[in-house]
Amino acid sequence: MTAEAILEVRDLVKHYPLTQGIVLKKQVGAVKAVDGVSFDLRKGETLGIVGESGCGKSTVARTLVGLERPTAGAIRYHGEDIARLSGRALKAVRRNIQMVFQDPYTSLNPRMTVGDIIGEPYDIHPEVAPKGDRRRRVQELLDVVGLNPEYVNRYPHQFSGGQRQRIGIARGLALRPEIIVADEPVSALDVSVQAQVVNLLERLQDEFDLSYVFIAHDLSVVRHISDRVAVMYLGRIVETGTEDEIYGHPTHPYTQALLSAVPVPDPDAREHRERILLAGDVPSPADPPSGCRFRTRCWKAQPVCAEVVPPLAVPEWFAGAAGPAHPSACHFAEERHVVPSE
Ligand SMILES: Nc1ncnc2c1ncn2[C@@H]1O[C@H](COP(=O)(O)OP(=O)(O)OP(=O)(O)O)[C@@H](O)[C@H]1O
Ligand SMILES: [Mg+2]
Repeated sequence: MTAEAILEVRDLVKHYPLTQGIVLKKQVGAVKAVDGVSFDLRKGETLGIVGESGCGKSTVARTLVGLERPTAGAIRYHGEDIARLSGRALKAVRRNIQMVFQDPYTSLNPRMTVGDIIGEPYDIHPEVAPKGDRRRRVQELLDVVGLNPEYVNRYPHQFSGGQRQRIGIARGLALRPEIIVADEPVSALDVSVQAQVVNLLERLQDEFDLSYVFIAHDLSVVRHISDRVAVMYLGRIVETGTEDEIYGHPTHPYTQALLSAVPVPDPDAREHRERILLAGDVPSPADPPSGCRFRTRCWKAQPVCAEVVPPLAVPEWFAGAAGPAHPSACHFAEERHVVPSE
């Protein structure tokens, strides 16, 4: 049974104007940071979003939590388009969709105590916690994320990176949201602490019945936490599917290239894996290639790729074929096994 979609993102677009001149600021173009992204987030699931630096992951995250207004498109939370809400209605929705940031060193105010940082959301939503109850709640949150409740009066610099990210997570939980958008929550941490923070997020998901959008640039980080994965390239989703579909049956050349770069711990498997090296750099999102945006780096590109934008759809040959069918935005989508099975 498929759970209901609590968040439906449809044709989301975010363009940043490119201006020239200091006084008049004439618009000369636009950075197409996000350019037509659609996905669902279902109750209780984790959707992983992956892609190289600059492909628009953080921009998607910021629009989902209302930090940024979309240029176009819809973000429906339980059927209501939050992109169109304002004032009190927007505030009520935002309470339910919280963000955990990438860098626990810069995202926590160094002059505030941990108690004030975690309790700050209550200043904006005093209806959630009466003043006299806040300290107790904050201490409970510290305990929930595995930190000593006695630390409530300490400052961020007295904590390690992993502990700071726990503080950021506690703050994200303060309003008891339904959805947490975690934007590269472990990328700034040592590899040895990354797993601990991912495990914490998994435990909290069960405990608080949370749905996650989990962003990372590395496919290996999202593999175990994600139920479904969306792969982004230059402002668009190029392939999406379940963990097994993306890792076991990738059909988009970009996904295959990303997967071929994932570190493989087993030396035997490492010898048998296939390496795909991508030519060139990611083009500028201010001037993306026509047709398929990946074509300038793709070894399969044909003239049609420059002319026709490949839709994100289940490839025709999948119909009736064995194996899982999932959407891939490539004219020449085909399975290629690049990672040794686990
Ligand atoms: N406020 C802004 N004004 C102009 N351009 C922006 C703004 N924010 C982001 N961009 C541009 O939009 C594109 C997407 O940026 P975004 O931060 O969403 O990418 P990302 O996938 O999160 O990258 P990273 O992995 O480095 O975090 C980039 O080209 C970036 O330079
Ligand atoms: Mg980012």
